[in-house]
Amino acid sequence: MRRCYPVVATSASLVVWGIIFFGLNGGTTVSAAGAPQQPRSAFNQGPARAPEDPAAVVHGKALFAINCQACHGADLRGGDMGGPNLLRSEAALTDLHGEQIIPIIQGARMAQGMPNIGLNNEDAGAVAAYIRSVIGSIGSQGRPPGEEQVLDIIVGDASRGQAYFAKHCASCHSVSSDLKGLATKYPDARQLQARWLAGGSAHAQPSSLPTVEITLPSGEKVAGGLVRIDDFLVTVKLSDGSERTIARRGAIPHVVVHDPLQAHRDMLPHYVDSDIHDVTAYLVTLK
Ligand code: HEC
Ligand code: HEC
Repeated sequence: MRRCYPVVATSASLVVWGIIFFGLNGGTTVSAAGAPQQPRSAFNQGPARAPEDPAAVVHGKALFAINCQACHGADLRGGDMGGPNLLRSEAALTDLHGEQIIPIIQGARMAQGMPNIGLNNEDAGAVAAYIRSVIGSIGSQGRPPGEEQVLDIIVGDASRGQAYFAKHCASCHSVSSDLKGLATKYPDARQLQARWLAGGSAHAQPSSLPTVEITLPSGEKVAGGLVRIDDFLVTVKLSDGSERTIARRGAIPHVVVHDPLQAHRDMLPHYVDSDIHDVTAYLVTLK
């Protein structure tokens, strides 16, 4: 199933990161390979960790800005969109090489409100490395490193953004109905930008949650909300509210996932930074 998701290309990601992510720069320590391990703070109760691969950390930071920041906050301490503080997360604190964090990114906690972000193992692993690097550099007061810098990101052209919206977004959205008052809902422009890039809504409408249709070898079809999927099991929420878990072996049974937010992920690699600036400049006018 994961293979159905495109790899979130990093070209746009890095551009986006440059625009929307300004936190943590000050103190995030990226150890060079072979450098002594960062001192573990009292706050970090996890096992001793090897220094992170600096390239993975940079890549993961960019992916975090796009895919996680809206819900978990630029400083990882939780965001307005309902994501918990990752600096106090048992899973994040004990993660050694992605074994805790990657499954969560890939849908293990969907029933608890953490969406399947649809990153492949390599990208999810990079995000995990970034999270570990931040945890590893927390001061003994439990404070995240660095201060978040505030920077004006509304530098685009709203009328060009409006034209872009008409062409690429209006097939699914309308500024007079579903996105009406968007800038009031997300008064912080960086949050608004993270929001429209990711598409996901923490309090997603049932209609925007992923669904799955499973065709068993007998021909029986099982369909409903997707609760969780990995290479071995798929769990579906049936219309009566009960859940059913079915084993997977390769292509059997046949599983088709429909994710309404797929379009948002597919668009990420195609934005150039002026598109992002312009669309944000337009969306902030939707008071
Ligand atoms: C739409 C909001 C949303 C987005 C986007 C999101 N998360 Fe979450 N995340 C949540 C919620 C809600 C939970 C709490 C789930 C639970 O109770 O276990 C959670 C839980 C987690 C946890 C477990 C925390 C714990 O309690 O131990 C980790 C780790 C995590 N998310 C990492 C990520 C990463 C990494 C990304 C980006 C790749 C991401 N999340 C994107 C909402 C989100
Ligand atoms: C193929 C359909 C589709 C396209 C095209 C699309 N979106 Fe979305 N978008 C969605 C879905 C589905 C959601 C989730 C809605 C929800 O959860 O309430 C969403 C969510 C959003 C949200 C979050 C709304 C909120 O209230 O939190 C914003 C903002 C957004 N999209 C902006 C855009 C912009 C800007 C574009 C064009 C660059 C775009 N979308 C293109 C389907 C689409």
